[in-house]
Amino acid sequence: MGRATLEKNPRDVASMFDAVARRYDLTNTVMSLGQDRFWRRATRAALRIGPQDKVLDLAAGTAVSTVELATSGAWCVAADFSVGMLAAGASRDVPKVAGDATRLPFDDGVFDAVTISFGLRNVVDHAAGLREMARVTRPGGRLVVCEFSTPTNRLFATAYKEYLMQALPRIARAVSSNPEAYVYLAESIRAWPDQTQLAHQIADAGWSSVRWRNLTGGIVALHAATKPLR
Ligand SMILES: C[S@@+](CC[C@H](N)C(=O)[O-])C[C@H]1O[C@@H](n2cnc3c(N)ncnc32)[C@H](O)[C@@H]1O
Repeated sequence: MGRATLEKNPRDVASMFDAVARRYDLTNTVMSLGQDRFWRRATRAALRIGPQDKVLDLAAGTAVSTVELATSGAWCVAADFSVGMLAAGASRDVPKVAGDATRLPFDDGVFDAVTISFGLRNVVDHAAGLREMARVTRPGGRLVVCEFSTPTNRLFATAYKEYLMQALPRIARAVSSNPEAYVYLAESIRAWPDQTQLAHQIADAGWSSVRWRNLTGGIVALHAATKPLR
């Protein structure tokens, strides 16, 4: 399986990431011109976690996002439904669990904070994913979604769209172990809700105090929210 379509069939998505896994981290860094490290650090800071916290990193892939979270001293678990992605991160010293974002293998309210980086866009029913994340978070616990979003400057947005559709698949052919997946990446970013729409969807899924911050001119947005106390 080279790539998923915008229907995001879970089997297709999981096998697409299995095929991407081998060179996933390198491809990310090349395509984002090294910005991925900055986005991950900003996600950790936005979660406001420390050694007292239990944290779920959902759609963690190779656990590259999880190890950054773990630098806070928090206990962090990586969950993903692509066993190939988890296996590619085997050398990363964090607990890893195979699981689907829409049916998480965790009890209610067990995490102080949950986060998902570049994963929510790939979940077939992302509203269900947001509700599942709320279920496993304790009342008062925190959510941060790190996801590609809509650049705020119109001129820049046009150049960026061109980069997504033209340059990104070409770079992928040189670097990735599954270049076709990067056509899906470009399409799925273009079809994804903008900052305001995603904020409404997060609130509709049962989260409160939803707010966001743009990174790199809105190429990425960090949405933060809190699980209501009751
Ligand atoms: C682009 S990668 C992100 C990996 C990592 N969080 C990062 O920041 O680089 C997206 C991940 O989402 C996972 N994913 C997509 N849908 C999922 C679902 N329904 N349940 C669990 N994982 C899912 C894929 O397997 C893939 O590893």
